[in-house]
Amino acid sequence: MQYKPKRSRAIALPNSEFRARATEYLDFLAAWVKKPRQTASVVPSSRYLARLMVAQIDPLDSGRVLELGGGTGVFTRAILATGLPADRLEVVEINPGFARGLRRHFPTVSVLETPAQIVSTATAGEPGDYQTVVSGLPLLAMDRGMHADILSESFRMLRPGGSFVQFTYSMRPPVNREVLDALGLDVERAGQTVRNFPPATVFRFFRQGE
Ligand SMILES: C[S@@+](CC[C@H](N)C(=O)[O-])C[C@H]1O[C@@H](n2cnc3c(N)ncnc32)[C@H](O)[C@@H]1O
Repeated sequence: MQYKPKRSRAIALPNSEFRARATEYLDFLAAWVKKPRQTASVVPSSRYLARLMVAQIDPLDSGRVLELGGGTGVFTRAILATGLPADRLEVVEINPGFARGLRRHFPTVSVLETPAQIVSTATAGEPGDYQTVVSGLPLLAMDRGMHADILSESFRMLRPGGSFVQFTYSMRPPVNREVLDALGLDVERAGQTVRNFPPATVFRFFRQGE
């Protein structure tokens, strides 16, 4: 019988993008282990979800954009990819490790380590200067009082016609109708993707009558 040498498999060294992605996943998992309710997911959102989250943004509009709960920067990257100038974006993130990472990856973007529920105390822009709030906050892990605080802070900064965009892992909006009515807000489904873990739905909140 003829001896056939075993074919050796080439081990491809991970390229820098793969390494960066792996680090991002590990950072996220570590944050979740430390503060599961605050992080609320074991992996960052996908780029498919990120594209849905930024669809409202008009880079040619002079309005500013606020991102809440930046994490490892999946949405930050997508917001900048719309062509919005970096000096019109502020990212809010209360996890100091994530905030450090965001500053390292996006040195031209302002990162605010302020809780989203009091964000108006720290923003560079004035009330009415913002066209869109992109929220990656874990609303399902928060109570109604927190929902009301976060939405009223966001709409304090949003100009007339402005949108608060939020994803959730449920088919229903993550904020109760009573809270929305009390704040004079409405909500519509803006998109959905199964190319995320878990599958996600995107909702757009806006002022009633707009
Ligand atoms: C589900 S992760 C989303 C991260 C990222 N946007 C993504 O989609 O991959 C929620 C993020 O919100 C941050 N966060 C939670 N509560 C917050 C608050 N009250 N103010 C600001 N950031 C908060 C967490 O630290 C975490 O980075």
